[in-house]
Amino acid sequence: TRVAGVVGQPIAHSMSPVLHNAWIAAAGLDAVYVPFGIAEGRFAAFVQGLRGGSVAGLNVTLPFKGEALAAADEATSRAAGARAANVLVFRPDGSILADNTDGLGLLAAFAEQAPGFDPKTGPVVILGAGGGARGAAAAFVEAGCPEVRIVNRTLAKAEEIATALGGTVRAYGLDQAGAAFEGANGLVNATSAGLANGGAIDVPLAATPEACVVMDMVYKPLTTPFLAGAQGLGRRTVDGLAMLIGQAIPSFEAFYGQTPPASVDVRTLAIQTL
Ligand code: ATR
Repeated sequence: TRVAGVVGQPIAHSMSPVLHNAWIAAAGLDAVYVPFGIAEGRFAAFVQGLRGGSVAGLNVTLPFKGEALAAADEATSRAAGARAANVLVFRPDGSILADNTDGLGLLAAFAEQAPGFDPKTGPVVILGAGGGARGAAAAFVEAGCPEVRIVNRTLAKAEEIATALGGTVRAYGLDQAGAAFEGANGLVNATSAGLANGGAIDVPLAATPEACVVMDMVYKPLTTPFLAGAQGLGRRTVDGLAMLIGQAIPSFEAFYGQTPPASVDVRTLAIQTL
């Protein structure tokens, strides 16, 4: 039986076991995918104890993505660029490989829900400067986006990401959001603002071009107040569930050595579980 799972704190409401176990069942694999709720401070010891492959791999979610990268012996360039890992693979020789499939998930979500969106054709704005925002900025730079604008309440954190990722990334304070939205092709909310108080982050969405595609990394609720505001202005939107599924597909491939079966509609299944 091939075992994999997801580590986070809290973990009880993670959607990843729903997705992976549905794919496992549909593929008829002798495998299981379990949630591991590890106390903060115990993550590194937990991961080091899995060396050797009794567990094939882990997805890693908040707040452990940075520690996951540090725990590994090797990292893919996309994990190094994001400075975070959402995938750990435990090889039989005892080594640990860190990867980051969040960027792939983000771009897959845009491709699926906003057909015709092309990151190469114009600026993209990221709201926030935490781990999620850094990963999103790295993914758009990697995808050939000519300009990534990071808007954050704490300007210094946005500037730090801009410095780390190079010349095509610019930092803006939250009070400069309207200027950052001018001419943008895409806008991604990577702040935790909606999570904390259930309200949308207060930015002038009307300053985005009509063709701007608006995305929220939060998927609970599926239509966040931020996305509802964008839809009210007639903008096309992309939801966080599409990104979650988009990062899970390459994770499944890393753990179980095959593509998830297309026969199972994990999106509908996940929405029923939300
Ligand atoms: P992650 O989960 O992606 O690692 P994080 O490190 O928790 O994110 O960061 C959350 C982001 O949401 C930060 O950019 C934070 O802004 P600050 O850097 O200024 O703290 C942003 N954020 C959280 N609540 C916010 C609010 N009410 N208004 C604006 N930004 C907010």
